[in-house]
Parts: sequence; structure tokens; C-alpha cells
Amino acid sequence: MAIILGLESSCDETAAAVVRSDRSILSHALAGQEDHHRAFGGVVPEIAARAHAEMMTPLVKVALADAGMTLDDVDAIAATAGPGLIGGVMVGLVTAKALAMAAGKPLIAVNHLEGHALSPRLIDADLQFPYLLLLVSGGHCQLLRVNGVGDYNRLATTIDDAVGEAFDKSAKILGLGFPGGPAVEQAAKRGNAKAVPLPRPLKGADEPHFSFAGLKSAVLRAHDAAIHRPEDIAASFQAAVVDCLEDRLEYSLSRMQTPAALVVAGGVAANEAVRAMLQTVAARHNMRFVAPPHWLCTDNAAMIAWAGAERFAAGLTDPLDIPARPRWPLDPAAEAVRGAGVKA
Ligand code: KG4
Ligand code: ZN
Repeated sequence: MAIILGLESSCDETAAAVVRSDRSILSHALAGQEDHHRAFGGVVPEIAARAHAEMMTPLVKVALADAGMTLDDVDAIAATAGPGLIGGVMVGLVTAKALAMAAGKPLIAVNHLEGHALSPRLIDADLQFPYLLLLVSGGHCQLLRVNGVGDYNRLATTIDDAVGEAFDKSAKILGLGFPGGPAVEQAAKRGNAKAVPLPRPLKGADEPHFSFAGLKSAVLRAHDAAIHRPEDIAASFQAAVVDCLEDRLEYSLSRMQTPAALVVAGGVAANEAVRAMLQTVAARHNMRFVAPPHWLCTDNAAMIAWAGAERFAAGLTDPLDIPARPRWPLDPAAEAVRGAGVKA
């Protein structure tokens, strides 16, 4: 049984965790940076990188201590090597390289998106490959067929904004605070989802992709009109997002041989309205629905350690000179779509 130390620092969470290949999470330590970025209404890369540099080593110590271990007990060290904000990614990766070198342990460079993609397998031993994955985070909105470790087919992606980005920008427009996703979800609970007519970009389109930029602009117009309550705009926005995701998912599902499971991962997977819709879609197609617990949906190091464990079991380790990558697609063969290329 392998024991993996995992590090995460690609956006605004610094995290370290120890996970065993039998799916035991021996520890997971995390320091969020919300207080550093709140005044700016979004993540400031330079501030994020400095905070990662301050917190990474203390968190590694906490994760090892909580697991009752020293570096000697660990079989390999995994770290996010991209995609993400490059300054932060470098902090985690360089720390992992230094630990690997000092302890003489193998290094595993993990694609952050693979961390999200494999995270459902950490909590569900019955989840077998292949499965259909909706990956919805701050930087991504993709539908992927997960064939195995390191083996992905991207079926659809956003042609403009990521879905989490739409939540964050809408929260900022509506003055709901930061981080935006949970703030919009809370406000939506007090609002009327039918109050504000908002567009459903690409709904019914004869292509599989997603689009959210038009929806965000419509939120801005609704807000500027000054006739709607922010909670009504939030509820109407969330309903539109759920509608779009469902429509786009149905488009792909109706054109494929459906795998046994529909899986959701990434920060937006913490949203209850999104989860409820996915549960219904899965039932409609006789698929099992798997969603990680909320803390495992948003960025964390347990998912990086677990992706490390899966890669380690497959004999995949990396040289110490492997570079950090700001962009790193899960499916390198996927065609570029119009408007894409802004996000990694
Ligand atoms: O996966 P993640 O933690 O970081 C990235 O890799 O991007 O995702 C963060 C995104 C943010 O845009 C955040 O607003 C969104 O996930 N998010 C949510 C919720 N919780 C986090 N969006 C909607 N509803 C939520 N409850
Ligand atoms: Zn993430």
C-alpha cells in the first residue's frame, strides 16, 4: 500500500494532504486566501503566490504531523504542476521537488484537472473507468470521457467563460461578496428564479459546447436597470446556468453510448442546484450519479495526493526538472474551439 503526500497551490488555496492507496485520507490541511483577495474582488496572482510561499511549508508539517508520519514514511510526493496561476504552481512544485530530493523519494507532477477528475474515485471504490465527467470550476467547464489515468477525451468545453467564472463575476456585479459561487447560491435561496428573464447561451445549438459570457453580460444589464432585487437576479442566473448545463449535457448524452456513471467535479460541483439537476439527468439515462463531498469539490490537496496515488500505481513518476505549466489540457488532441484559448 502506497502513502502519498500531495501539495496544491494552483489558485487561492494552499493545501497539503497525506492519502493512502486504500483510499484512507490520513490528513488534509488547507489555508484559504479569501481574506487576502477580498478587497480586490478576485484572486490577485502576485498576492496568491506570496501567500502560498508563506503557508506551504507549515502546511506540509501539519499534514505529516496529523497523519502521524515523517517524510520517511511517505512513498512519493505529488504536487500540482499546472494548469493554474504560474507563481503559485511553482511554489508547490518547487517545494515538492525539494522534499523529494532531500528524502530521496519519487516526484509525481499532477495535472490539477486530473486531480479534480479522479477525486470521485477517492471516495467511491466502485467507480470504474470509463465514466462521463462534468468538470466545472473557476477556470473550466468541460465534458470529458475519463477512460483511465492520463486518458481523457474532451467532448465539450466552454467557448468563452468558465462556469465558476460566471458565478464569480455575477457575484461581483451584484455586490454579493467573494468568493462568488457560494455567495450567489446563498442569495439565490432567497430569490425568485422566474423574476428576471435571462438568456440561455447555446441552448438548443447543434454543437456540444458551453457558453456563459452572454449570461454574465445579461446579469450586468439586469443589475444596471435597477429594477430587480439582487437575490432575484442571483436566483434567475443560477437557474439559467443549470438550464444551460442540462441542455448541453443532454445534447452529448443523446449522441453517445452512455457510460455507467455520470460524475461531477470542480468547485461548482459544490452547488446544490447543479447537483440536483445532474442527479435527475443521470436517473433519466440509467446512469449512476457520483459527486464528491463539498470539501473535495473545491481545491484541496487530498485530490492531488489521490491522483498521485493513481499515477504511482501505474508506475508514473516524473523527473526533478519537470517544469510548471500555466496551461495543460487533459486531452491534448482536443480541437480548439472558437473563442477558447483564454483559459488553460
Ligand atoms: O475547483 P475550484 O476550487 O478552483 C479552480 O480550480 O477553479 O473552483 C472554484 C470555483 C469558483 O469559481 C467558485 O465560485 C466556484 O468554484 N464555486 C461555486 C460554489 N462553490 C465554489 N459555484 C457555485 N456554487 C457553489 N456553491
Ligand atoms: Zn480546481
